[in-house]
Amino acid sequence: MRLRNLPILLAALGWAAGSSILFRGGTIIAFDKGTESLQVIRNGSVLVTDDRIVSVSGSAPRNIPAQTEVIDIAGKILAPGQVNTHLHGWQTAFKTLASNTSLVEYFSRYGEFAAAGLLTPEDVYIGELAGLFESLNGGVTTILDHAHHTWSNATAQAGLVASIDSGARVFWAYAFHNITTITPNFLVPEQLGNFRDLVKNAPLKGSPTEVGVAYDAFGPNPNVGEVNAIISLAKELNASVITTHSLQGAWGIDNSPENLNTLGILNISIPIVLSHASFLTATGAQLLRSTNQYISITPESEFHYGHTHPHSHLIQDQSSLGVDTHFTFSSDILTQTRLWLQSVRRRLYSEVLGRWEVPDNNPMSVNQAFLLATRHGGLALRRDDLGVIAPGAKADLVVWDAASSPAMLGWNDPVAAVVLHASVADVEAVLVDGRWKKRGGRLVGGVKIDYYGDVQKRFLASAKRIQNKLIETPSVFPRAGDVWAPSGFPVADALTVDTLRGPGDGYGETFLAAQ
Ligand SMILES: *[C@@H]1O[C@H](CO)[C@@H](O)[C@H](O)[C@H]1NC(C)=O
Ligand SMILES: *[C@@H]1O[C@H](CO)[C@@H](O)[C@H](O)[C@H]1NC(C)=O
Ligand SMILES: *[C@@H]1O[C@H](CO)[C@@H](O)[C@H](O)[C@H]1NC(C)=O
Ligand SMILES: *[C@@H]1O[C@H](CO)[C@@H](O)[C@H](O)[C@H]1NC(C)=O
Ligand SMILES: *[C@@H]1O[C@H](CO)[C@@H](O)[C@H](O)[C@H]1NC(C)=O
Ligand SMILES: *[C@@H]1O[C@H](CO)[C@@H](O)[C@H](O)[C@H]1NC(C)=O
Ligand SMILES: [Zn+2]
Repeated sequence: MRLRNLPILLAALGWAAGSSILFRGGTIIAFDKGTESLQVIRNGSVLVTDDRIVSVSGSAPRNIPAQTEVIDIAGKILAPGQVNTHLHGWQTAFKTLASNTSLVEYFSRYGEFAAAGLLTPEDVYIGELAGLFESLNGGVTTILDHAHHTWSNATAQAGLVASIDSGARVFWAYAFHNITTITPNFLVPEQLGNFRDLVKNAPLKGSPTEVGVAYDAFGPNPNVGEVNAIISLAKELNASVITTHSLQGAWGIDNSPENLNTLGILNISIPIVLSHASFLTATGAQLLRSTNQYISITPESEFHYGHTHPHSHLIQDQSSLGVDTHFTFSSDILTQTRLWLQSVRRRLYSEVLGRWEVPDNNPMSVNQAFLLATRHGGLALRRDDLGVIAPGAKADLVVWDAASSPAMLGWNDPVAAVVLHASVADVEAVLVDGRWKKRGGRLVGGVKIDYYGDVQKRFLASAKRIQNKLIETPSVFPRAGDVWAPSGFPVADALTVDTLRGPGDGYGETFLAAQ
């Protein structure tokens, strides 16, 4: 073999010479692992080689590899990508259909069982992809997807392939559930085989996507044999995460830390993320601490549907942030961060004012909120290298255009600038694994996808068909006087507000038209 062919051979084998990017001259929101705290570096630089951060410094680094791409970020803020620990990416096509939905209606119309049969594998693929691009656009680089579009081998595969094709860092968690609302039925035993096949055959190598498991029947009344089959498969296939919806109280969809602990699966080496953890108990919180497992607080979802989160502010040392059903509200973690921060402040101020006293301190800092949105998401996945800017961490980065954003003009503290003043419009660039996903304010495609516009076209065709079908389907769900099946508690009406002077409340209609 002639030597001049060597680079071609190496490239063919995937051993291309490392590619480097140097960000310089901007403000870096870095992380100091020694002190476990944020560290702001002004006029700093970050060197990325391949998928990792090599150095973070206050001066230009020496030994910059040849052919390094140099990016001047003067006046801008370089921050870690946000981590979303709860999403159902496939649901994008329902966008705006459920602006005033309740959780009771959600289950009967948009949830995993109700929607079985409504989406083809192409609908799942393109909806998931559109949802993940939406996340990347907002500066979210890691997504834990509770993938309950597993209605057949084909729809399951479609969501996994979309995750890989997006180029985002997706922890794609296969949902095991009995689908009996369509023929053929798709039951857990067949899903175990399907999951095994997918993990073995999907092109996961070299992709930031990893697989996990989602399951919502850990308790009450678990099928112990089924739980053990799922957990041993998760262990055998080295699943990166296990996730479950946990809604205690009148909801009765417990999947509580106590339930998992009784099954002997809370204290395992696989990270477990409990989404919502509504009505978490004090005992449950202590179990999460002693087993180092995390919850995913999804503020906007928990407000919108009313799962609520009465105790989540007391367990923020084991909390991360998530989105949930992004078709009904924002998909970016920045919005969740701000909602959560201000709602915690309100709650803790109210306790003082409720005693007829006047608070003199602020109960939660933007620094803490920023860490929930980034570092804590990494910790929930037991990934020390995610959600931080530090040497050795994954190069999952966001450039906030703090230089020209009217909203951020005049900023001094970069953490406050991002948490309280920025919006998705200020996300200028996004990298995952050291690769550009958004640049100059525009999405630049994913794996095998050169142009976001093609995704938009395909998605709109799919969404139109799904939306038309739902618009012509009457909504039937449990109403006041009925019993809520999971718990046996009564269903009741919430008080609605009155926004009109005089008679009538102005509730109005939702503006949906078949197209
Ligand atoms: C930033 O640092 C570089 C050297 O690393 C220096 O040349 C430049 O003047 C500094 N800029 C500011 C605004 O301090
Ligand atoms: C699925 O169905 C099987 C067989 O009917 C049952 O034993 C199992 O508990 C069900 N699992 C769930 C999560 O509903
Ligand atoms: C789905 O995949 C599983 C595992 O390979 C297999 O046993 C099952 O027959 C497949 N189902 C269909 C309908 O092809
Ligand atoms: C899981 O990890 C173990 C240990 O790292 C390895 O031996 C095994 O091959 C892995 N299994 C799969 C399915 O990747
Ligand atoms: C989990 O395991 C750790 C280490 O083995 C132990 O310290 C802790 O008490 C265990 N927690 C529970 C709830 O079993
Ligand atoms: C949402 O509003 C529509 C009126 O536009 C009403 O028919 C529907 O019942 C409302 N949904 C819920 C869950 O309250
Ligand atoms: Zn959810």
